[in-house]
Amino acid sequence: MAVPSGASAAVLLPSEPISNDHISVKGPNLEKSLSLFDFLQSYTRIGFQATSFGRAIDIVDRMRKWRLSDEPLAEDEDEKYRSPEIRSETKCNIFLGYTSNLISSGLREVILFLVKHKHVAAVVTTAGGIEEDFIKCLGNTYLADFNLDGADLRRRGMNRIGNLIIPNDNYCKFEDWLTPILDAMLAEQKETGEVWTPRRFIHRLGKEINNEESVYYWAYKNDIPVFCPALTDGSIGDMIYFHSFKNPGLVLDIVQDIRELNEKSRKSRKAGMIVLGGGVCKHQIANAMLIRNGADYSVFINTGQEFDGSDSGARPDEAVSWGKIRAGAEAVKVFADATLVFPMLVAATFAKDYQTS
Ligand SMILES: NC(=O)c1ccc[n+]([C@@H]2O[C@H](COP(=O)([O-])OP(=O)(O)OC[C@H]3O[C@@H](n4cnc5c(N)ncnc54)[C@H](O)[C@@H]3O)[C@@H](O)[C@H]2O)c1
Repeated sequence: MAVPSGASAAVLLPSEPISNDHISVKGPNLEKSLSLFDFLQSYTRIGFQATSFGRAIDIVDRMRKWRLSDEPLAEDEDEKYRSPEIRSETKCNIFLGYTSNLISSGLREVILFLVKHKHVAAVVTTAGGIEEDFIKCLGNTYLADFNLDGADLRRRGMNRIGNLIIPNDNYCKFEDWLTPILDAMLAEQKETGEVWTPRRFIHRLGKEINNEESVYYWAYKNDIPVFCPALTDGSIGDMIYFHSFKNPGLVLDIVQDIRELNEKSRKSRKAGMIVLGGGVCKHQIANAMLIRNGADYSVFINTGQEFDGSDSGARPDEAVSWGKIRAGAEAVKVFADATLVFPMLVAATFAKDYQTS
């Protein structure tokens, strides 16, 4: 009996020819000895989020290697940027953002590496992302379990962040450390008449902690600005609240900070975003990019979804519509837990130059 012709035509529809430029799907050959770098590069051809991760490696490499000298000298170029030396030293400004929980996690050490070696031009995070770094200098955060009982932990004075635990004593130590600094800052403010900003506050704390294990110690040493528009939404806010009764008058001005962040973006010859997680840290950087008509490179790593219309979940293309990423710019979103992906991304890019065999 003959195969029905309509059915065979439907199933065996011929394909259009595929050009030789197209890359076929292929996983790593684990029988061969692979360097860490070759292994991470092999993700590009695996497909799904592994391929987005491979694209993130490529985009981060482009942003970290870009120099103004790569571009032809424009006729109307600013006098400051005409010298070949200055052109070869002018880099892409990388704006790094991350949610608070990532400083609670071991990503803190990966972020520290980037700040210590001056790979980023500015940082944006939320309050927990500031205080947890200092608190870790005063006491440990421990590995635990997502399933620990909340009421039991509360009785025992333990605080849970996912599968991590922080003893409440750490926050008491933080208050003992922070309160005299707040007193000194208030005295200086009264003496000079100059109010503080969240960025200058974090810079001061980085100086005071004087500990090489702190991200913000290195930000202080390297004069990398750290912005935290909602600095009061965490333990720091509790301490500022208590302090406002004991010794009132401290002022933190967010206007000066938004001006500094936006000006940094506006004056960047090239600008890239690397943002881990969503919320304030993602949007504050993207919004600063609007001032320069969009970022040139963008890597987002987050678990947010877009069906609810959240900015946290929005893909880079939504930011293109707002002018926060330039049309045609290199951009990718990796849908993943940043704790899995970011150490690999940094190992495959910035850290490559530091690895000894
Ligand atoms: N350690 C803490 O988490 C902590 C401590 C004190 C205060 N807070 C405060 O809680 C508020 C909310 O925190 P937030 O804005 O930093 O972020 P968040 O925890 O609300 O996360 C925002 C979004 O980022 C994404 N995200 C979070 N973790 C991720 C991960 N590991 N990988 C990939 N994507 C991830 C998710 O889409 C999430 O909805 C802030 O004001 C912060 O200061 C947090």
